[in-house]
Amino acid sequence: MKIDILTLFPNMFSKILEESILKRAQEKEAVTIRVINFREYSNDPHQKVDDTPYGGGPGMVLSCQPIFDCIESIRTKDSKVIMLTPDGTTYRQSIAYSLAKEKHLILLCGHYEGFDERIRSLCDLEISIGDYVLTGGEIPAMVLADSIVRLLPGVIEEESHKEDSFNNQRLDYPSYTKPFIFRGMKVPEVLLSGNHKKIDEFRRQMSYNKTKERRPDLLEK
Ligand code: ADE
Repeated sequence: MKIDILTLFPNMFSKILEESILKRAQEKEAVTIRVINFREYSNDPHQKVDDTPYGGGPGMVLSCQPIFDCIESIRTKDSKVIMLTPDGTTYRQSIAYSLAKEKHLILLCGHYEGFDERIRSLCDLEISIGDYVLTGGEIPAMVLADSIVRLLPGVIEEESHKEDSFNNQRLDYPSYTKPFIFRGMKVPEVLLSGNHKKIDEFRRQMSYNKTKERRPDLLEK
């Protein structure tokens, strides 16, 4: 998979792309991630990328020209262009699974008061990571990249994401490691029994109980 992140703040991505699983996924060539500053596509002598809103009001609006030119120069028939915006569809695990099947994602990060409305005509999808407003689309783009890359073949063991929270509308079951007793708190005995059928049943029940208590809305779906 290829992921291109279009932003005015490319430095925000350096640390996150150079650590841990995102770093390893790139080394293994499961994904190629490029961070592109769309300011470089501005035709303005001062590389301006925004302007005041027609009709007045606060803040600046991202202009069409740099973003149209940038996207048109990198998109192919295999590209899916995604705008990160609080107005978009709320992100969830099922969207991560479906985006993990794509060949090329272009993630467009906004800033300031938002995008010129005409930029939406370039986008296949608009995504919000929740009902709150951030200073820009960079953190949402990192959220998408991280949640998608971990699902790509060979990045992490499939076993470990099969049991993730939100698969099958359930939260994850509780996990324990050594020691058996820590500050008086014991690991459930069944996990030491070696009986895999019982362990599976226990985990399924714990997962159901946790979902019922914390996220009953998932069970209703
Ligand atoms: N840009 C600002 N806030 C956002 C949000 N909640 N989701 C996606 N993009 C955003």
